[in-house]
Amino acid sequence: MTSTFGTLRLPVATAAAKVEAFYVRPVEHRDAAMLSTVEREAFPSQWPPTRFSREIARRRTSYLAAARELPNSLDSGRCPVTPRPTWRSGKSAEQGRGILGRIAAGLKQISFVDSFTGAEPPRDYVAGFVGVWFIANEAHIVSLGVRPKDHRKGVGELLMLGAFREARRYGARDVTLEVRASNFPAQALYRKYGFREVALRKRYYLDNGEDAIIMTTPPIANVEYAISLDSLARSHAVRWGHVLQPAAR
Ligand SMILES: CC(C)(COP(=O)(O)OP(=O)(O)OC[C@H]1O[C@@H](n2cnc3c(N)ncnc32)[C@H](O)[C@@H]1OP(=O)(O)O)[C@@H](O)C(=O)NCCC(=O)NCCS
Repeated sequence: MTSTFGTLRLPVATAAAKVEAFYVRPVEHRDAAMLSTVEREAFPSQWPPTRFSREIARRRTSYLAAARELPNSLDSGRCPVTPRPTWRSGKSAEQGRGILGRIAAGLKQISFVDSFTGAEPPRDYVAGFVGVWFIANEAHIVSLGVRPKDHRKGVGELLMLGAFREARRYGARDVTLEVRASNFPAQALYRKYGFREVALRKRYYLDNGEDAIIMTTPPIANVEYAISLDSLARSHAVRWGHVLQPAAR
């Protein structure tokens, strides 16, 4: 079975697909706390943490998760987040509890961090995510992170392919991002996908004064570039067995 990705035709997950295979799916509001967990692992020095519940709701933004089926939804050992989480919005639980409840609700609203509570199990295991903003005719990858225990399994590449699919969907001309000058693994991934350095922002990162390298792809509709992306996507699918779409339920 195949799916069309612009000119790309990639395998789609089937019920028989291995549970180890990752797929890409849009992030939902109830994933917010899970994404915070992934962010803490992938970007331990990031401050302030991203408020995903707000990010996900932004207009002209796509957040995608790289996820895989839980082999058994009761097997909480496979899910490194609080075992039986569900999303609770900032307000509801404290409402109707008098002055203390209202103070707690107020504090929650100024909190940076999304939190889990409740009893609904996670739908799948999330290894990483990518966030893309669409500004004018450009797709800007604002965040791409994979849990360290899932590094070097093709997950970063899968998310990159997902980001390109979104860029095509929005009609973006090219894809751009910034990366720390010292972040060689990420730069290697971006070079593999045709990003080239176009500018340097001196002392861009506030935590350590590190420079940012701005990297951009050629126009993604360019035939040569589309062919190379197609070839990368095929090799990735063959090598890892990951897919761009979850199996239909
Ligand atoms: C960068 C990151 C997303 C890569 O994710 P990943 O799932 O490990 O990457 P993949 O397994 O898909 O690797 C894809 C390509 O990336 C490059 N790459 C990834 N890790 C690398 C490493 N440690 N050293 C060199 N190249 C590396 C390679 O080109 C690799 O292709 P190859 O397997 O053919 O050599 C991951 O290291 C990460 O989350 N880092 C912390 C957060 C971060 O720095 N994000 C980027 C911010 S700009």
